[in-house]
Amino acid sequence: MDLFEYQARDMFEAHGVPVLAGIVAHTPEEAKAAAEKIGGVVVVKAQVKVGGRGKAGGVKVAKTADEAFEHASNILGMDIKGHTVHTVMIAQGADIAEEYYFSVLLDRANRNYLAMCSVEGGMEIEQLAVERPDALARVAVDPAVGIDSAKAAEIVDAAGFAPELREGVMNAIIKLWDVFTKEDATLVEVNPLVKTGSGEILALDGKVSLDENADFRQPGHAALEDKAAADPLEAKAKANDLNYVKLDGQVGIIGNGAGLVMSTLDVVAYAGEKHGNVKPANFLDIGGGASASVMAAGLDVILNDEQVKSVFVNVFGGITACDAVANGIVKALEILGDEANKPLVVRLDGNNVDEGRRILAEANHPLVTLATTMDEGADKAAELAYAAR
Ligand SMILES: Nc1ncnc2c1ncn2[C@@H]1O[C@H](COP(=O)(O)OP(=O)(O)O)[C@@H](O)[C@H]1O
Ligand SMILES: [Mg+2]
Repeated sequence: MDLFEYQARDMFEAHGVPVLAGIVAHTPEEAKAAAEKIGGVVVVKAQVKVGGRGKAGGVKVAKTADEAFEHASNILGMDIKGHTVHTVMIAQGADIAEEYYFSVLLDRANRNYLAMCSVEGGMEIEQLAVERPDALARVAVDPAVGIDSAKAAEIVDAAGFAPELREGVMNAIIKLWDVFTKEDATLVEVNPLVKTGSGEILALDGKVSLDENADFRQPGHAALEDKAAADPLEAKAKANDLNYVKLDGQVGIIGNGAGLVMSTLDVVAYAGEKHGNVKPANFLDIGGGASASVMAAGLDVILNDEQVKSVFVNVFGGITACDAVANGIVKALEILGDEANKPLVVRLDGNNVDEGRRILAEANHPLVTLATTMDEGADKAAELAYAAR
């Protein structure tokens, strides 16, 4: 999960990284009030989860509160690389003397962490990395040791900071490492890290990506989620702990096990070529224990996708045997009642398949068609989706 700049700023502050005051505003009036509260020169900053806001006109200096009002009116509603600005941050203005760059990230390829640092920060860091890679120091960070003062010194020296800046920059880097490790981040980036006219080191922009695998030990992170931006179906699936990805198609897919679901997508896409090019509508893996409630939650998500015209349930009975899955489907259809309103093709195989098929045949639900093979099921589901389009 990526954070907004203002969320990163707050997180930095909580871990002792030097930052300036920042107040979030959703209207020009709130922006003006925030500017008055902070006092002096402020900067109005678009809060969108994309870089290059400055270049796009989303970062503007305001000398007075009225100017902050003006800039906020222009920036709110602006489109920056496909992201609409709904929020701005009013940040205290910094007297910038120099701009630097620092980041620390998960280096998957090397099974390690990597710190990157440059005395030439600011808006053009991607260009710098390509054109003059030597100007961007890269220092490996051992996860078992982290960034202690020796590692911070190594980073600062590799980047070529002047001696009088070493202490201030090292302090900021060690605090940023605290953010990275204590918050279970996969990326912490500061661009620019600045030196002010009076020699202070400050983080003026922050980008933080959090590792969702660590959510169980980071209870505070749930509140950082941008609920407004989430796809409503994906949000519903997530709330039910379902592994769901919405795709652009007409055949809803439910399967157990990521591999089976992936191949079901392929088989349905192939079958769709014969039926008006209908395509799979989603990835949904209901996992090992395909209980009635999980099946109902999965069907509920898929049936609420307006694009979906038919559903293909493709389950291989293992530890959860086919009879349990069949009972799950029957109960799920009972739970959903009138909300179940699209044809379902069900293919069961594996452990206790005969009993599973018998249960479904006996229930004789008007929406359910049984298929014996995966290819047959995919073909039937594609045909039904095409007919209902
Ligand atoms: N609080 C601030 N005071 C003064 N200048 C700022 C402030 N915040 C940002 N800037 C200037 O605006 C530039 C772009 O802002 P930044 O927050 O880095 O956005 P982005 O990286 O999305 O362009 C910075 O490089 C810096 O020069
Ligand atoms: Mg920046």
